[in-house]
Amino acid sequence: MALPTVNPTKTNSWGKLKAHFEAIKDVHMKDLFAKDENRANTFKIEWDDFYVDFSKNRITEETFKYLLELADEVKLKEAIESQFSGEIINQTEGRAVLHSALRAPESYNVKVDGENVIPEVHKVKRKIEAFTNEVVNGDRKGYTGKPFTDIVNIGIGGSDLGPAMVVDSLQYYKNHLTTHFVSNVDGDHVNEVIKKLNPETTLFVVVSKTFTTQETLSNANTIKSWFLKHANEADIAKHFVAVSTNIDSVKNFGIDPNNIFPMWDWVGGRFSLWSAVGLSISLAVGYDNYDALLSGAYKMDEHFKSEDFDSNIPVVLALISIWYNNFFGAESEAVIPYSQYLNQFATYLQQGIMESNGKSIDRNGYPIDYETGTLIWGEPGTNSQHAFFQLIHQGTKLIPADFIGFTKSLHGNQDHQDKLMSNFLAQTEALLNGKTKDEVVSEGTPEAIIPFKIFQGNKPTNTIFINKLSPESLGKLIAMYEHKIFVQGVIWNIFSYDQFGVELGKQLASKILQEFNNQSVNNHDSSTSNLLEYYKKSR
Ligand code: F6P
Repeated sequence: MALPTVNPTKTNSWGKLKAHFEAIKDVHMKDLFAKDENRANTFKIEWDDFYVDFSKNRITEETFKYLLELADEVKLKEAIESQFSGEIINQTEGRAVLHSALRAPESYNVKVDGENVIPEVHKVKRKIEAFTNEVVNGDRKGYTGKPFTDIVNIGIGGSDLGPAMVVDSLQYYKNHLTTHFVSNVDGDHVNEVIKKLNPETTLFVVVSKTFTTQETLSNANTIKSWFLKHANEADIAKHFVAVSTNIDSVKNFGIDPNNIFPMWDWVGGRFSLWSAVGLSISLAVGYDNYDALLSGAYKMDEHFKSEDFDSNIPVVLALISIWYNNFFGAESEAVIPYSQYLNQFATYLQQGIMESNGKSIDRNGYPIDYETGTLIWGEPGTNSQHAFFQLIHQGTKLIPADFIGFTKSLHGNQDHQDKLMSNFLAQTEALLNGKTKDEVVSEGTPEAIIPFKIFQGNKPTNTIFINKLSPESLGKLIAMYEHKIFVQGVIWNIFSYDQFGVELGKQLASKILQEFNNQSVNNHDSSTSNLLEYYKKSR
């Protein structure tokens, strides 16, 4: 069964939301709070170690009701069932979308083409576990008999961003191995990493679902050539492993078939950290922590599948985001984790959200005349307060923001933790209330300066409190955003799991690369021709 193909703007609820938007677009949240002392309890979800407060949004109970009706009208429930049961919902590529199967228990039965994929998933997990233990314990050794000290993940996009973000986020849980990531085809990237390595003690994990990606293969070949300056061909088997669906190409590269960790075409690159693509995570934090990450994601899957929509965290966050994107005309959303560990979180989400929902053709194949995918950006607080918060507070743009905070710090420095979280709460409060002219005047502000010190407020935020940053809670958080992406794609009536938009640039790049060494250049626009000639002369 395919995904439903309902044009959201033709639903009754969309019409109701449009009319309702006109009625409440200028209402200040401050007044909503003043009118209803129970508001913060009405708009909150407590689940497991998550406390999600969505009361600081420009919504009323009526808004929420219509948004929930929209979810029903676009047949979200059926869509969720289609995804989890392995139906071919990635219709443009003819594939199921089953990253959830990667974290499902062994007792599950999820069929693709009539075959249960769970036993194969768990077989690969056991291979990851055995391999991780051998490397971490030092039983697996390099070509001179020394245990490994360094891991290099070679991949790009989903084969880099997920593992890199998780390893960075979970550095508190890390073991003795040093983990590096090489992604960019910029040779300076790989060379800077190579500078730090000892070939005798470094393990290379080449991660590419397709094993055709220019960046990854270039970096893997450069590293292989460097390695072979120190070691022999036969030593490659000890130092190179690969994660891919393209087993033949991996073998051609020279990697020992025993060192191949398979994945499947029903796992999208940007949702693949739960597969063997996460091997670097397992190596960096140990298999048990990697498994706990997956268990956390599984718990969020169960919540998403079974919870009523009005208390379903990914569904509620997705609906609120639709409200701003499609009715208020907000173009972007900020994600602000109050944890330095989540430094790479927004960068990671950018691929998941923008590669998935940056689409303008609907599931019937017609151009779309409403807004889809949001721009995602962000940096940890408090650093971002001293960078771009000015624009969120007093700029002309409406930027809804997710504030993510952990109520306990990992190192237990309560003084810092309290300062951190006081900033978190102060910011969301300031964004809500703003500062009135009267307040500015009462501070004795000189007349001419008064307008500059007024804050309108009414800037929406979601607060996502989590007890503690752990592999399990991180798994839940990532899965929460994955499901939010899915819900939004369903509502916008788009295909979220292809990425044809990244192909055109790749094709042109390979043509241009050939032209660098040719006498003549092809037909380009005059700007590109000039720049190409200039580059050829000056490189
Ligand atoms: O950027 C396009 C893309 O296909 C991503 O979706 C994917 O994560 C990335 O390239 C890397 O692809 P691969 O794992 O096949 O090398």
